[in-house]
Amino acid sequence: MVAGPENIAQAVTRLAAGGLVAFVTETVYGLGADAFNADAVKEVFKLKARATTNPLIVHVTGPEMASRVVADWPQIADVLAAAFWPGPLTLVLPKARNIPDIVTAGGPTVAVRCPDHPTALALIEAFDGPLVGPSANVSGQISPTTAEHVRASFTDEDLLVLDGGPCSGGIESTVLLLAGGVARILRPGLIGADEIRDVLGQGVSVVEGAPESAVVQSPGLIGRHYSPRTAMVLFRACDWPGVLEEGERVVVLTHEVRDVGRPHFLIAMPREAEAYAARLYAALREADEMGADLIAVEEPGEGGVWVAVLDRLGRAAERG
Ligand code: TXA
Ligand code: MG
Repeated sequence: MVAGPENIAQAVTRLAAGGLVAFVTETVYGLGADAFNADAVKEVFKLKARATTNPLIVHVTGPEMASRVVADWPQIADVLAAAFWPGPLTLVLPKARNIPDIVTAGGPTVAVRCPDHPTALALIEAFDGPLVGPSANVSGQISPTTAEHVRASFTDEDLLVLDGGPCSGGIESTVLLLAGGVARILRPGLIGADEIRDVLGQGVSVVEGAPESAVVQSPGLIGRHYSPRTAMVLFRACDWPGVLEEGERVVVLTHEVRDVGRPHFLIAMPREAEAYAARLYAALREADEMGADLIAVEEPGEGGVWVAVLDRLGRAAERG
């Protein structure tokens, strides 16, 4: 059931009392709490079993509310917000003093974004304050793109979920560090380096993989993440059909027409990057539930939104 005004009012009451509320956004569902309430934020870390060294994104209604959580809102942020907010772009800027340390994992910067979903915006507006919102999943597992996914992760909790149906974006926001007038992508997302470059008229660097500097600057980039329980590998067209021999029962996720035959399974993926991203996490969950011993994902494409898709696939397939 899609959330209405009564659900939002109930959510605001919970948030004001220091409680947690999961909410829909255009990317994935978030686990919300009052960003200025350190105890409430602590509960978010606890429920997700998230390392307290990994900072959270603060969700706002726009630059005006963002200026309550950042120490300095530079002109470059204005330009980016005008172009991409509301939308899947998170900006990392020097933090305001009054933001609790737990939100930023003790670091000097804070991540802010304005989600492009009427329910999320109505919630933040009605609460009249910024909300932390990590993805509403247990740390390391697959991010939720439906309210059912959220409920499946926290079955023991009396968690209020503001349901807005399936997320249109399907993968997490682009995280962009703004420091000294330079823009650096810490996590690729639906908004690509080229689009940001076009708006800024200046170069944008991209942190590849997880080098040491990235580990310090965006702990969420460390290793395995977004992972199904079932072992997962990526394969290329030239590996077909050999990849089927790597497991007894293999679930193949592919955008190509492939004949897998029993006892294997096939999940057909969209050919177009945005549609693929929107479908990805639900497909990985379905694959995980098939009781196979291997999930094999065909590498789908290059450039644009595929960069973010490949980033998530690479992390999901990582072992350890
Ligand atoms: O699309 C999204 O961004 C979703 C929706 C719910 O808004 N949220 C989300 O949050 O993906 P989370 O917590 O799952 O991922 C936040 C990412 C992590 O990689 C974290 O390390 C990074 O943002 N991050 C947060 N604060 C940061 C900071 N101050 N500096 C660098 N990276 C930061
Ligand atoms: Mg997450």
